[in-house]
Amino acid sequence: MLHAPEASCTRTAARASSPAPLPFSLPPVLLMAQTYFATTQPGLENALLAELRQLKIKKPQVLTGGVEFQATYATLYEANLTLRSATRVWLRLDEFRARDTSELYRKCRRFDWERLLGPDLTLTIQAHSQQSRMVHTGTISEVTAQAIREHFTDDLKRPAPDFGDQEAAQRIMVRIEGDRCQLSLDASGPRLQQRGWRTESGPAPLRENIAAGLLLLCDWTPDQPLLDPMCGSATILIEAALLATKTAPNLARNFAFERWQNFEPPKLRGLRANLKSTQKPDAAPSLLGFDRDPHVLEAAAANARRAGVNAHLHLTPAPLSELQAPDTPPGLILTNPPYGERLASGDALPTLLERWQNELPRWSVAFIWPRERAAEVQKLATDRLQRVATIFNGGISVDLWRGAPLR
Ligand SMILES: C[S@@+](CC[C@H](N)C(=O)[O-])C[C@H]1O[C@@H](n2cnc3c(N)ncnc32)[C@H](O)[C@@H]1O
Repeated sequence: MLHAPEASCTRTAARASSPAPLPFSLPPVLLMAQTYFATTQPGLENALLAELRQLKIKKPQVLTGGVEFQATYATLYEANLTLRSATRVWLRLDEFRARDTSELYRKCRRFDWERLLGPDLTLTIQAHSQQSRMVHTGTISEVTAQAIREHFTDDLKRPAPDFGDQEAAQRIMVRIEGDRCQLSLDASGPRLQQRGWRTESGPAPLRENIAAGLLLLCDWTPDQPLLDPMCGSATILIEAALLATKTAPNLARNFAFERWQNFEPPKLRGLRANLKSTQKPDAAPSLLGFDRDPHVLEAAAANARRAGVNAHLHLTPAPLSELQAPDTPPGLILTNPPYGERLASGDALPTLLERWQNELPRWSVAFIWPRERAAEVQKLATDRLQRVATIFNGGISVDLWRGAPLR
Protein backbone atom coordinates (compact mmCIF):
# COMPACT_ATOMS: atom_id res chain seq x y z
CA MET A 1 0.00 0.00 0.00
CA LEU A 2 1.31 3.41 -0.94
CA HIS A 3 1.83 6.29 1.40
CA ALA A 4 -0.74 9.02 1.42
CA PRO A 5 0.21 12.57 0.45
CA GLU A 6 1.55 14.49 3.49
CA ALA A 7 1.54 11.37 5.64
CA SER A 8 2.84 7.88 6.00
CA CYS A 9 0.11 5.42 5.22
CA THR A 10 -1.32 3.05 7.76
CA ARG A 11 -4.76 1.81 6.87
CA THR A 12 -6.61 1.63 10.18
CA ALA A 13 -10.30 1.41 9.35
CA ALA A 14 -12.57 0.80 6.42
CA ARG A 15 -16.25 1.56 6.57
CA ALA A 16 -18.64 2.44 3.79
CA SER A 17 -21.31 5.10 4.12
CA SER A 18 -24.60 5.18 2.25
CA PRO A 19 -24.41 6.62 -1.29
CA ALA A 20 -25.06 10.33 -1.67
CA PRO A 21 -28.25 11.21 -3.55
CA LEU A 22 -27.28 12.83 -6.86
CA PRO A 23 -29.13 15.84 -8.23
CA PHE A 24 -30.35 14.87 -11.75
CA SER A 25 -29.30 18.18 -13.30
CA LEU A 26 -25.53 17.73 -12.86
CA PRO A 27 -23.33 17.54 -15.96
CA PRO A 28 -21.98 13.98 -16.50
CA VAL A 29 -18.41 14.83 -15.47
CA LEU A 30 -19.63 15.77 -12.01
CA LEU A 31 -21.46 12.47 -11.57
CA MET A 32 -18.40 10.23 -11.93
CA ALA A 33 -17.00 8.95 -8.63
CA GLN A 34 -13.29 9.50 -8.09
CA THR A 35 -10.97 8.65 -5.23
CA TYR A 36 -9.76 11.51 -3.04
CA PHE A 37 -7.56 11.89 0.00
CA ALA A 38 -8.38 14.63 2.51
CA THR A 39 -5.38 15.43 4.69
CA THR A 40 -5.22 16.69 8.25
CA GLN A 41 -2.70 16.70 11.07
CA PRO A 42 -2.05 13.16 12.37
CA GLY A 43 -4.35 12.75 15.39
CA LEU A 44 -7.32 14.56 13.84
CA GLU A 45 -8.32 11.80 11.42
CA ASN A 46 -11.44 10.85 13.38
CA ALA A 47 -12.68 14.44 13.41
CA LEU A 48 -12.23 14.55 9.64
CA LEU A 49 -13.92 11.17 9.23
CA ALA A 50 -16.96 12.47 11.13
CA GLU A 51 -17.11 15.50 8.83
CA LEU A 52 -16.86 13.37 5.69
CA ARG A 53 -19.65 11.13 6.95
CA GLN A 54 -21.82 14.25 7.16
CA LEU A 55 -21.22 14.71 3.43
CA LYS A 56 -22.43 11.13 2.89
CA ILE A 57 -19.28 10.17 1.00
CA LYS A 58 -18.60 6.59 -0.04
CA LYS A 59 -15.99 4.22 1.41
CA PRO A 60 -14.09 6.49 3.83
CA GLN A 61 -10.86 4.89 4.95
CA VAL A 62 -8.78 6.38 7.72
CA LEU A 63 -5.05 6.53 6.95
CA THR A 64 -2.40 8.25 9.03
CA GLY A 65 -2.80 11.95 8.33
CA GLY A 66 -6.12 11.82 6.53
CA VAL A 67 -9.09 9.98 5.10
CA GLU A 68 -9.36 8.46 1.64
CA PHE A 69 -12.83 8.46 0.13
CA GLN A 70 -14.81 8.18 -3.07
CA ALA A 71 -17.07 10.93 -4.28
CA THR A 72 -18.25 12.81 -7.32
CA TYR A 73 -16.62 16.07 -8.38
CA ALA A 74 -19.67 17.88 -7.00
CA THR A 75 -18.90 16.44 -3.55
CA LEU A 76 -15.27 17.42 -3.98
CA TYR A 77 -16.39 21.04 -4.35
CA GLU A 78 -18.59 20.73 -1.28
CA ALA A 79 -15.80 19.08 0.74
CA ASN A 80 -13.45 21.98 0.01
CA LEU A 81 -16.09 24.53 0.98
CA THR A 82 -17.21 22.83 4.17
CA LEU A 83 -14.47 20.70 5.77
CA ARG A 84 -13.29 22.34 8.98
CA SER A 85 -10.56 19.94 10.12
CA ALA A 86 -8.92 19.22 6.73
CA THR A 87 -5.76 20.84 5.38
CA ARG A 88 -6.19 19.80 1.73
CA VAL A 89 -8.08 17.46 -0.55
CA TRP A 90 -6.11 15.51 -3.17
CA LEU A 91 -7.51 13.77 -6.23
CA ARG A 92 -5.92 10.35 -6.77
CA LEU A 93 -4.88 10.34 -10.44
CA ASP A 94 -3.15 7.04 -11.06
CA GLU A 95 -1.30 4.21 -9.40
CA PHE A 96 1.18 1.93 -11.15
CA ARG A 97 4.36 -0.08 -10.82
CA ALA A 98 7.55 1.98 -11.24
CA ARG A 99 10.81 0.22 -10.42
CA ASP A 100 13.09 2.83 -11.95
CA THR A 101 13.05 6.27 -13.53
CA SER A 102 12.47 5.02 -17.08
CA GLU A 103 9.34 3.13 -16.00
CA LEU A 104 8.23 6.20 -14.02
CA TYR A 105 8.80 8.40 -17.09
CA ARG A 106 6.91 6.10 -19.43
CA LYS A 107 3.89 5.74 -17.18
CA CYS A 108 3.74 9.42 -16.28
CA ARG A 109 3.92 10.32 -19.96
CA ARG A 110 1.03 8.04 -20.91
CA PHE A 111 -1.36 9.61 -18.35
CA ASP A 112 -3.95 11.92 -19.93
CA TRP A 113 -2.97 15.08 -18.02
CA GLU A 114 -4.87 17.28 -20.48
CA ARG A 115 -8.15 16.03 -18.99
CA LEU A 116 -7.45 18.29 -16.00
CA LEU A 117 -4.50 20.54 -16.70
CA GLY A 118 -4.30 23.29 -19.30
CA PRO A 119 -1.24 25.06 -20.70
CA ASP A 120 -2.05 28.21 -18.72
CA LEU A 121 -1.15 26.52 -15.42
CA THR A 122 2.10 26.47 -13.49
CA LEU A 123 2.74 23.05 -11.97
CA THR A 124 4.89 22.10 -9.03
CA ILE A 125 5.81 18.54 -8.17
CA GLN A 126 6.26 17.17 -4.67
CA ALA A 127 7.99 13.81 -4.56
CA HIS A 128 8.28 11.26 -1.76
CA SER A 129 10.17 8.03 -1.88
CA GLN A 130 10.40 5.13 0.51
CA GLN A 131 12.00 1.72 0.09
CA SER A 132 12.59 2.41 -3.60
CA ARG A 133 15.66 2.33 -5.81
CA MET A 134 14.63 5.88 -6.75
CA VAL A 135 15.93 7.62 -3.64
CA HIS A 136 16.43 11.16 -4.97
CA THR A 137 13.17 13.06 -4.79
CA GLY A 138 14.66 15.81 -6.98
CA THR A 139 15.22 13.27 -9.77
CA ILE A 140 11.69 11.87 -9.36
CA SER A 141 10.28 15.40 -9.73
CA GLU A 142 12.42 16.16 -12.78
CA VAL A 143 11.51 12.90 -14.51
CA THR A 144 7.80 13.46 -13.84
CA ALA A 145 7.97 17.05 -15.09
CA GLN A 146 9.76 15.95 -18.25
CA ALA A 147 7.16 13.23 -18.87
CA ILE A 148 4.28 15.70 -18.46
CA ARG A 149 5.98 18.30 -20.67
CA GLU A 150 6.66 15.78 -23.44
CA HIS A 151 3.15 14.34 -23.15
CA PHE A 152 1.86 17.80 -24.13
CA THR A 153 4.50 18.90 -26.62
CA ASP A 154 5.39 15.61 -28.37
CA ASP A 155 2.29 13.42 -27.98
CA LEU A 156 -0.44 16.07 -28.20
CA LYS A 157 1.53 18.72 -30.14
CA ARG A 158 0.25 21.36 -27.73
CA PRO A 159 1.90 23.92 -25.46
CA ALA A 160 2.81 22.39 -22.09
CA PRO A 161 2.14 23.93 -18.67
CA ASP A 162 5.05 25.70 -16.97
CA PHE A 163 6.81 24.38 -13.90
CA GLY A 164 7.70 26.49 -10.87
CA ASP A 165 7.31 26.45 -7.13
CA GLN A 166 5.29 29.60 -6.52
CA GLU A 167 2.45 29.55 -3.97
CA ALA A 168 -0.21 29.61 -6.68
CA ALA A 169 1.24 26.64 -8.59
CA GLN A 170 -0.89 23.55 -9.07
CA ARG A 171 0.61 20.81 -6.87
CA ILE A 172 1.17 17.26 -8.13
CA MET A 173 2.25 14.62 -5.62
CA VAL A 174 4.40 11.67 -6.74
CA ARG A 175 4.63 9.14 -3.95
CA ILE A 176 6.81 6.10 -4.45
CA GLU A 177 6.86 3.22 -2.02
CA GLY A 178 8.77 0.14 -2.97
CA ASP A 179 7.98 -0.46 -6.65
CA ARG A 180 4.57 1.28 -6.54
CA CYS A 181 3.95 4.87 -7.58
CA GLN A 182 0.89 6.96 -6.82
CA LEU A 183 0.06 10.27 -8.52
CA SER A 184 -2.25 12.78 -6.82
CA LEU A 185 -3.37 16.30 -7.72
CA ASP A 186 -4.09 18.98 -5.10
CA ALA A 187 -7.70 20.13 -5.43
CA SER A 188 -7.52 22.78 -2.69
CA GLY A 189 -4.59 25.09 -3.44
CA PRO A 190 -3.47 27.06 -0.38
CA ARG A 191 -4.14 24.98 2.74
CA LEU A 192 -7.77 24.88 3.78
CA GLN A 193 -7.03 26.32 7.23
CA GLN A 194 -6.18 29.58 5.47
CA ARG A 195 -9.74 30.79 5.76
CA GLY A 196 -8.86 34.44 5.17
CA TRP A 197 -10.03 35.98 8.45
CA ARG A 198 -6.96 35.49 10.64
CA THR A 199 -4.65 38.32 9.68
CA GLU A 200 -3.71 39.16 13.29
CA SER A 201 -2.63 36.83 16.07
CA GLY A 202 -0.70 36.48 19.31
CA PRO A 203 2.70 34.77 19.41
CA ALA A 204 1.49 31.13 19.29
CA PRO A 205 -1.82 30.84 17.45
CA LEU A 206 -3.48 27.50 16.90
CA ARG A 207 -4.13 26.50 13.29
CA GLU A 208 -7.76 27.05 12.40
CA ASN A 209 -8.35 23.45 11.33
CA ILE A 210 -6.79 22.15 14.55
CA ALA A 211 -9.09 24.41 16.60
CA ALA A 212 -12.07 23.04 14.65
CA GLY A 213 -10.75 19.48 15.06
CA LEU A 214 -10.47 19.92 18.84
CA LEU A 215 -14.09 21.07 19.01
CA LEU A 216 -15.16 18.02 17.00
CA LEU A 217 -13.06 15.60 19.08
CA CYS A 218 -14.58 17.10 22.25
CA ASP A 219 -18.09 16.54 20.80
CA TRP A 220 -18.83 20.23 21.41
CA THR A 221 -22.29 21.28 20.26
CA PRO A 222 -23.43 24.91 20.00
CA ASP A 223 -25.97 24.50 22.80
CA GLN A 224 -23.08 24.12 25.27
CA PRO A 225 -21.40 27.29 26.59
CA LEU A 226 -17.75 27.32 25.55
CA LEU A 227 -15.06 29.08 27.56
CA ASP A 228 -11.44 29.61 26.53
CA PRO A 229 -9.60 31.20 29.49
CA MET A 230 -6.37 31.75 27.48
CA CYS A 231 -7.97 32.48 24.13
CA GLY A 232 -5.20 34.53 22.48
CA SER A 233 -6.45 35.48 19.01
CA ALA A 234 -9.63 33.46 19.68
CA THR A 235 -9.14 30.78 17.05
CA ILE A 236 -11.09 28.18 19.04
CA LEU A 237 -13.98 30.57 19.72
CA ILE A 238 -14.18 31.83 16.12
CA GLU A 239 -14.23 28.27 14.76
CA ALA A 240 -16.96 27.48 17.31
CA ALA A 241 -18.96 30.50 16.15
CA LEU A 242 -18.64 29.37 12.52
CA LEU A 243 -19.90 25.93 13.55
CA ALA A 244 -22.77 27.39 15.58
CA THR A 245 -23.90 29.66 12.75
CA LYS A 246 -23.51 26.82 10.22
CA THR A 247 -21.07 28.96 8.25
CA ALA A 248 -19.01 26.91 5.80
CA PRO A 249 -15.40 27.78 6.75
CA ASN A 250 -14.11 28.15 3.20
CA LEU A 251 -17.04 29.88 1.58
CA ALA A 252 -15.08 33.01 0.71
CA ARG A 253 -11.97 31.51 -0.85
CA ASN A 254 -10.90 29.99 -4.15
CA PHE A 255 -9.60 26.49 -4.84
CA ALA A 256 -7.10 24.86 -7.18
CA PHE A 257 -9.84 22.75 -8.84
CA GLU A 258 -11.31 26.00 -10.23
CA ARG A 259 -8.45 26.00 -12.75
CA TRP A 260 -8.97 22.42 -13.91
CA GLN A 261 -10.22 21.81 -17.44
CA ASN A 262 -13.37 20.05 -16.21
CA PHE A 263 -14.34 22.75 -13.68
CA GLU A 264 -18.08 23.51 -13.67
CA PRO A 265 -18.47 27.12 -12.37
CA PRO A 266 -22.29 26.99 -12.12
CA LYS A 267 -22.09 24.01 -9.78
CA LEU A 268 -19.68 25.79 -7.42
CA ARG A 269 -21.78 28.97 -7.57
CA GLY A 270 -24.88 26.93 -6.73
CA LEU A 271 -23.17 25.24 -3.78
CA ARG A 272 -21.90 28.57 -2.42
CA ALA A 273 -25.38 30.10 -2.70
CA ASN A 274 -26.98 27.08 -1.06
CA LEU A 275 -24.50 27.09 1.82
CA LYS A 276 -25.08 30.84 2.32
CA SER A 277 -28.82 30.36 2.41
CA THR A 278 -28.59 27.68 5.11
CA GLN A 279 -26.43 29.77 7.48
CA LYS A 280 -27.89 30.53 10.89
CA PRO A 281 -26.60 34.02 11.73
CA ASP A 282 -29.18 34.31 14.52
CA ALA A 283 -27.72 31.39 16.49
CA ALA A 284 -26.91 32.51 20.02
CA PRO A 285 -24.07 30.36 21.33
CA SER A 286 -22.33 31.36 24.61
CA LEU A 287 -18.71 31.83 23.56
CA LEU A 288 -16.55 33.33 26.30
CA GLY A 289 -12.91 34.29 25.86
CA PHE A 290 -10.43 35.57 28.42
CA ASP A 291 -6.76 36.44 28.17
CA ARG A 292 -4.44 38.41 30.41
CA ASP A 293 -3.11 40.29 27.38
CA PRO A 294 -5.57 43.02 26.26
CA HIS A 295 -3.67 43.57 22.99
CA VAL A 296 -4.17 40.00 21.85
CA LEU A 297 -7.89 40.40 22.56
CA GLU A 298 -7.96 43.38 20.17
CA ALA A 299 -6.52 41.08 17.50
CA ALA A 300 -9.12 38.46 18.47
CA ALA A 301 -11.96 40.96 18.04
CA ALA A 302 -10.61 42.08 14.65
CA ASN A 303 -10.37 38.45 13.49
CA ALA A 304 -13.91 37.76 14.67
CA ARG A 305 -15.14 40.82 12.74
CA ARG A 306 -13.46 39.60 9.56
CA ALA A 307 -15.00 36.15 10.09
CA GLY A 308 -18.40 37.83 10.54
CA VAL A 309 -18.94 36.38 14.01
CA ASN A 310 -17.90 39.20 16.38
CA ALA A 311 -21.44 39.53 17.73
CA HIS A 312 -21.16 35.97 19.05
CA LEU A 313 -17.94 36.36 21.09
CA HIS A 314 -17.61 37.83 24.58
CA LEU A 315 -13.97 38.72 25.17
CA THR A 316 -12.70 39.98 28.54
CA PRO A 317 -9.15 40.78 29.61
CA ALA A 318 -8.48 38.81 32.81
CA PRO A 319 -5.79 36.54 34.22
CA LEU A 320 -6.52 32.86 34.67
CA SER A 321 -6.02 33.18 38.42
CA GLU A 322 -9.21 35.28 38.57
CA LEU A 323 -11.38 32.97 36.46
CA GLN A 324 -14.81 32.45 38.00
CA ALA A 325 -17.90 30.55 36.90
CA PRO A 326 -19.72 32.71 34.35
CA ASP A 327 -23.40 33.48 34.48
CA THR A 328 -24.31 30.66 32.06
CA PRO A 329 -25.17 26.98 32.47
CA PRO A 330 -22.05 24.79 32.71
CA GLY A 331 -20.40 23.84 29.42
CA LEU A 332 -16.93 23.11 28.08
CA ILE A 333 -13.65 24.82 28.97
CA LEU A 334 -11.39 24.27 25.95
CA THR A 335 -8.01 25.93 25.76
CA ASN A 336 -4.54 25.90 24.29
CA PRO A 337 -2.34 27.03 27.20
CA PRO A 338 1.18 28.31 26.61
CA TYR A 339 3.42 25.27 26.93
CA GLY A 340 6.87 26.64 26.58
CA GLU A 341 7.51 26.23 22.85
CA ARG A 342 6.88 29.79 21.72
CA LEU A 343 5.39 31.13 24.99
CA ALA A 344 6.63 30.41 28.52
CA SER A 345 4.21 28.05 30.24
CA GLY A 346 4.58 29.62 33.71
CA ASP A 347 1.97 28.16 36.03
CA ALA A 348 -0.80 28.06 33.39
CA LEU A 349 -1.48 24.30 33.73
CA PRO A 350 -1.71 24.07 37.55
CA THR A 351 -3.77 27.28 37.67
CA LEU A 352 -6.15 26.00 34.97
CA LEU A 353 -6.75 22.74 36.84
CA GLU A 354 -7.08 24.51 40.19
CA ARG A 355 -9.72 26.90 38.74
CA TRP A 356 -11.61 24.00 37.15
CA GLN A 357 -11.65 22.00 40.36
CA ASN A 358 -12.49 24.88 42.70
CA GLU A 359 -14.48 27.40 40.64
CA LEU A 360 -16.01 25.56 37.66
CA PRO A 361 -16.39 21.92 38.79
CA ARG A 362 -19.68 21.51 36.90
CA TRP A 363 -17.90 22.23 33.60
CA SER A 364 -15.97 19.77 31.41
CA VAL A 365 -12.39 20.72 30.69
CA ALA A 366 -10.16 19.99 27.70
CA PHE A 367 -6.72 21.27 26.73
CA ILE A 368 -3.65 20.30 24.73
CA TRP A 369 -0.26 19.71 26.35
CA PRO A 370 3.04 18.35 24.96
CA ARG A 371 3.18 14.57 24.90
CA GLU A 372 6.69 14.57 26.33
CA ARG A 373 5.40 16.47 29.37
CA ALA A 374 2.37 14.24 30.00
CA ALA A 375 3.77 13.43 33.48
CA GLU A 376 2.95 17.00 34.56
CA VAL A 377 -0.73 16.48 33.74
CA GLN A 378 -0.82 13.05 35.36
CA LYS A 379 0.77 14.41 38.52
CA LEU A 380 -1.83 17.17 38.82
CA ALA A 381 -5.01 15.24 37.96
CA THR A 382 -4.26 11.59 37.25
CA ASP A 383 -7.69 10.11 37.71
CA ARG A 384 -9.77 13.01 36.44
CA LEU A 385 -8.44 13.47 32.91
CA GLN A 386 -8.32 11.20 29.90
CA ARG A 387 -6.07 11.43 26.88
CA VAL A 388 -8.44 11.70 23.91
CA ALA A 389 -5.96 12.02 21.04
CA THR A 390 -2.34 12.82 20.24
CA ILE A 391 -2.07 15.50 17.59
CA PHE A 392 0.92 16.72 15.63
CA ASN A 393 0.76 20.48 16.22
CA GLY A 394 3.37 22.89 14.88
CA GLY A 395 6.20 20.37 14.91
CA ILE A 396 5.49 18.70 18.26
CA SER A 397 3.13 15.99 19.47
CA VAL A 398 0.49 17.24 21.89
CA ASP A 399 -2.10 15.26 23.80
CA LEU A 400 -5.70 16.39 23.96
CA TRP A 401 -6.74 15.86 27.59
CA ARG A 402 -10.35 15.89 28.62
CA GLY A 403 -12.06 15.79 32.01
CA ALA A 404 -15.78 15.28 32.73
CA PRO A 405 -17.55 17.59 35.20
CA LEU A 406 -16.44 16.86 38.75
CA ARG A 407 -19.94 17.15 40.19
C1 LIG B 1 -0.80 29.53 23.14
S1 LIG B 1 -1.58 31.06 23.31
C2 LIG B 1 -3.23 30.76 22.82
C3 LIG B 1 -3.36 30.86 21.35
C4 LIG B 1 -4.78 30.80 20.85
N1 LIG B 1 -5.34 29.48 20.93
C5 LIG B 1 -4.83 31.30 19.41
O1 LIG B 1 -5.15 30.55 18.50
O2 LIG B 1 -4.46 32.46 19.21
C6 LIG B 1 -1.75 31.20 25.03
C7 LIG B 1 -2.44 32.47 25.50
O3 LIG B 1 -2.55 32.38 26.91
C8 LIG B 1 -2.42 33.66 27.45
N2 LIG B 1 -2.03 33.46 28.88
C9 LIG B 1 -0.89 32.90 29.35
N3 LIG B 1 -0.92 32.85 30.69
C10 LIG B 1 -2.10 33.38 31.06
C11 LIG B 1 -2.71 33.61 32.33
N4 LIG B 1 -2.10 33.28 33.45
N5 LIG B 1 -3.93 34.18 32.35
C12 LIG B 1 -4.59 34.51 31.19
N6 LIG B 1 -4.04 34.34 29.97
C13 LIG B 1 -2.82 33.77 29.91
C14 LIG B 1 -1.37 34.33 26.60
O4 LIG B 1 -1.51 35.76 26.67
C15 LIG B 1 -1.68 33.75 25.22
O5 LIG B 1 -2.52 34.64 24.50
